[in-house]
Amino acid sequence: MIEGADLAGRSVADAPAAVVGTATDIADGRETEGAERAAFTVQLKSWQARIEQALAARLPPPDVEPTRLHAAMRYSVLGGGKRVRPMLVFATARALGIGEAQVEAAACAIELVHAYSLVHDDLPAMDDDDLRRGRPTCHKAFDEGTAILVGDALQSLAFQLLASDPALPADPAVRLRLTALLAEASGVSGMTGGQAIDIAAPGQQLTVGEIESMYARKTGALIRASVLMAAACAPALAGQLQAALADFAAPVGLAFQIQDDLLDVLADTATLGKATRADHARAQPTHPAVVGVAASQERVRGLHAEALAALAPFAASAEPLRQLADWLLVRSY
Ligand code: IPE
Ligand code: IPE
Ligand code: MG
Ligand code: MG
Ligand code: MG
Repeated sequence: MIEGADLAGRSVADAPAAVVGTATDIADGRETEGAERAAFTVQLKSWQARIEQALAARLPPPDVEPTRLHAAMRYSVLGGGKRVRPMLVFATARALGIGEAQVEAAACAIELVHAYSLVHDDLPAMDDDDLRRGRPTCHKAFDEGTAILVGDALQSLAFQLLASDPALPADPAVRLRLTALLAEASGVSGMTGGQAIDIAAPGQQLTVGEIESMYARKTGALIRASVLMAAACAPALAGQLQAALADFAAPVGLAFQIQDDLLDVLADTATLGKATRADHARAQPTHPAVVGVAASQERVRGLHAEALAALAPFAASAEPLRQLADWLLVRSY
């Protein structure tokens, strides 16, 4: 029932061809030629296959005790998801001339934390959602206790990889920096802190500034970490380029969550693989709920332009990062 399930025909590999074609609407005239778009689609497919294999190899085997926990971990991580964060890791590595093998374990670590955040986000005590990535949520397919433990174990596994995965650069200073970046992005100043603000928000009147600050934490922090962790694998990287990457990642992360809110309003469950209009049902103060759909879309366009402008110091090697930004911010799921 579990791995490789058909995600209602959705796969990241199909997505770019479908949506990058509309990217010029918001891309300030950056034309994505047909051949370039096709090459990008092939690249995304290859990164998706790579991360799937890398995750499958690092998750505990389903036939070893405790089998129910292992099966639930594999169910929650494998066979679905756009793999946006690993793709940002790989695209940043490409921009910096770092090999994919060197950043693969870091990409896995971030995706494991992300998958854990989704399992917990869906729990009855949080968003109480039944559908994720086109399938029953972890606590529906298994049970609540197992879903809580899945989150715990995925988080531990993520940090275990940073400590001891042989594929990562051996330099202890690099591993320490990776650990610090992921811990900061996952903890109170990042995802967990943002989620705490999020679950306290229903029924409250938040300003757009408060909403954006919550988004920068709950979603932006892990997206930013994806870019910065790849950069940390290039320890000799000039400070100016590190700063440029941070300036790229922050607007992408914020815009990604605003787009998630917009899709909750505008998309349908079959395309999205999760319940829609769920934010409204929970009286969740979202970006579009506070400023309106059109103003949220305009904000996404502005953030997209900011992100691309930050990449100015990079030449052609950053093209996959630019194309990812185009895709992420006009995505239809
Ligand atoms: C969904 O993230 C939750 C947010 C942080 C907005 P994604 O849209 O990346 O979810 P998957 O991994 O593709 O399922
Ligand atoms: C979740 O935001 C952000 C996380 C840190 C998991 P949402 O609650 O909007 O994500 P979805 O819509 O359930 O994927
Ligand atoms: Mg939530
Ligand atoms: Mg949710
Ligand atoms: Mg959402």
